[in-house]
Amino acid sequence: MQAEDAFVVAIDGPGGSGKGSLSVNVAQALGFHLLDSGAIYRLLALKAMQQGVDLEQESEVIAVLDDFNIRFEAGDELSIPYLDDRDVAEELRREETGDAASKVARHSAVRKQLLGLQRSFFKPPGLVADGRDMGTVVFPKARFKFFLCASIEIRAQRRYKQLKNMGLSASIAQLQADIAERDERDQNRSASPLTPAEDALIVDSSLLDLSQVTELVLSHIRHGD
Ligand code: C5P
Repeated sequence: MQAEDAFVVAIDGPGGSGKGSLSVNVAQALGFHLLDSGAIYRLLALKAMQQGVDLEQESEVIAVLDDFNIRFEAGDELSIPYLDDRDVAEELRREETGDAASKVARHSAVRKQLLGLQRSFFKPPGLVADGRDMGTVVFPKARFKFFLCASIEIRAQRRYKQLKNMGLSASIAQLQADIAERDERDQNRSASPLTPAEDALIVDSSLLDLSQVTELVLSHIRHGD
């Protein structure tokens, strides 16, 4: 594939819709780079919390970006996130980090400052970009746009299994309440709210397993529609 043929596949959707695993699969199948944009907001939230910053204060969160040293290294299956040269994979997946991430992600100046970093992940042969605003704001010209959704009950169950696999405890009822609160914050913020791009294909993953969703998405990409 020529460098000028490189393209972006944007995969957006709420937490627990399965877009993270789907993005990993699609990137692997196509041999593309992967951007986990949620991890960037989580890393920022982690650093802000370490510094005792008030997450509601845009100017304080922006100041954290002055010295924001992150990188991703290839791991066995998933890539390993580093913050200031420290492996923070475990802290990053915690519920409280996701919650803090959705607070720092509300600030429009923060989102603006992170655009360049996110766009720098697009290199030949192409990129699978996973997030909330990949198809609407970060890569509005993405060749393929998918918006994944699933019922809140299914998303809470998936999250529960994920946390259990990581050896963390959780209650399904609490997870449902947390997901509902995070959805509300992500969908109703004024800066890049979570909403499907007009030209996105909406995929309901409630009744499909990961391999079925992956096949569906790959077949759309292969047929170019
Ligand atoms: O996808 P993940 O759960 O890791 O994202 C954590 C939070 O980061 C989301 O709840 C959302 O508020 C924010 N986020 C965002 N825009 C993105 C990716 C994540 O606002 N592109």
